[in-house]
Amino acid sequence: MWRRYLMWFAHEHIDFRFQEIQSIIKLFDIPIRYVEKPCTNKPYWIVEVPSEEHVKLIASRSVLLKNCIELWSRAKTGARLHSNLKQALMNKSGKWIVGERSDKDSSELDICPGELISSCCSSDISYKVHVETFCNHFSMKEKVDKIEKFCYLPLNGSVNLKKPDITLAYIEFYGIDCNNVPEEPYDLFFGKWVADGQRDLIQAHSLKKRKFIGNTSMDAQLSLIMANQAQVSNGHIILDPFVGSGSLFIAAAHFGAYVWGSDIDYMMLHARTRPTRCGQKVRTKEENIRSNMKHYGSESKYLDVIVSDFSLPMWRSDLKFDAIVTDPPYGVREPTEKIGIERDNYSLSEEHLEHHVPSKVEYGLPQLYSDLLNFAARHLELHRRLICWYPVVRSDYSDEELPSHPCLELVANSEQVLSKLTARRLLTYEKIKDYTSDVHIDKSMVMPNFREKYFAMGEISRREKKERRAEEIAQTLRMKSQKNLLKRE
Ligand SMILES: C[S@@+](CC[C@H](N)C(=O)[O-])C[C@H]1O[C@@H](n2cnc3c(N)ncnc32)[C@H](O)[C@@H]1O
Repeated sequence: MWRRYLMWFAHEHIDFRFQEIQSIIKLFDIPIRYVEKPCTNKPYWIVEVPSEEHVKLIASRSVLLKNCIELWSRAKTGARLHSNLKQALMNKSGKWIVGERSDKDSSELDICPGELISSCCSSDISYKVHVETFCNHFSMKEKVDKIEKFCYLPLNGSVNLKKPDITLAYIEFYGIDCNNVPEEPYDLFFGKWVADGQRDLIQAHSLKKRKFIGNTSMDAQLSLIMANQAQVSNGHIILDPFVGSGSLFIAAAHFGAYVWGSDIDYMMLHARTRPTRCGQKVRTKEENIRSNMKHYGSESKYLDVIVSDFSLPMWRSDLKFDAIVTDPPYGVREPTEKIGIERDNYSLSEEHLEHHVPSKVEYGLPQLYSDLLNFAARHLELHRRLICWYPVVRSDYSDEELPSHPCLELVANSEQVLSKLTARRLLTYEKIKDYTSDVHIDKSMVMPNFREKYFAMGEISRREKKERRAEEIAQTLRMKSQKNLLKRE
């Protein structure tokens, strides 16, 4: 018998929710049926999976999932919720009895198998009931009143609020607009708590508590989402070719991967850049990527980091990675550079060779992404993934501008809005074919340069603000002089 579950999500990074869960169910090969089509204006889904183990596996990885409840009743009114539960007590069929659908998406008339409830009723099973309200607040007394309405359930065990054998959950959903809360909830749920998602990891990995961070360190939640998108598993070897302070390592190593990285910035890899934390004057000795890994108990997963320019490949041609997870520079908070020189026919004399520090030139984003996709096509294992961020100007964005490669299929594309004008998209590519030498990136697909547009937009908005301010001042002066004129008259 397939079980029905309520999956409750954090109401943030909504565009990443479906893709994160899809990646996880594909990783564990979990069959899933959506009782209602997942949508973005509700923080919950109702799904069916073959067993509780499946839902626990999903919860063991997802950071966007708050918890999973084995659903016993769901309705649009309290009366219906209770009447469904009472009918369920008599449902001996061992299956959900699917009610007539009042509308296409509603499962509020469905009656759960009675055995789900009876299996929790024996006298040696202690329990507690947890009341949760989304977008509304109730006092303890009101919550207890709500709990007492379930007194007809034949729960014979004792109540144990500290360490119960089972937790029953009652949830009222009042919508997502906290400024416009209805009198009655839109949706009500009752069931047995099964598992929590990995939200605690966000705190545990928080940048605030991390020893070594840089200006562009990726926050813990997004790093974990990236590792899930990459379907990182125990023993995988992953690469971050723009590794910076190594934030993506922490998440990948947490899920069991060995991590390699490279970056052009010697100072960053040796933790000699200016401290990022407010008030800190100098970096301490312990500030480096290895210390971070040690702090999280993942030192054994740390392979190494290498100072290297990504535009000049250094890896053995037959080396393969299980995933490439990276956040390339966008040229806004850090330069996009590669080794090079603008002058033609430049040559270096023998005497300068030893101490020569090579100069750098602009590494345009079209070239960088083209290199990245080609690299992934060569160095990923077949059916493995490249996960990378891609900056966009929101008003100009269209899917057509995304970099593409015949060996890579774009399987997920989620937007994180950065400002009114800009966003970045988390792109997930899967390698679908072996690399052959005659594979080229289609130049017509290469995107326009984000950096130029970003700064051009900054210029425009600065100019607009200046003009608006000048207009406001002129207006105030006009009004003042009119008042003075009137006074004189
Ligand atoms: C957005 S940051 C990465 C931040 C990193 N994910 C972290 O959590 O700290 C981009 C990094 O790319 C590096 N970079 C820029 N140009 C490069 C190049 N040509 N080759 C390798 N790394 C480069 C920068 O030094 C910077 O550390």
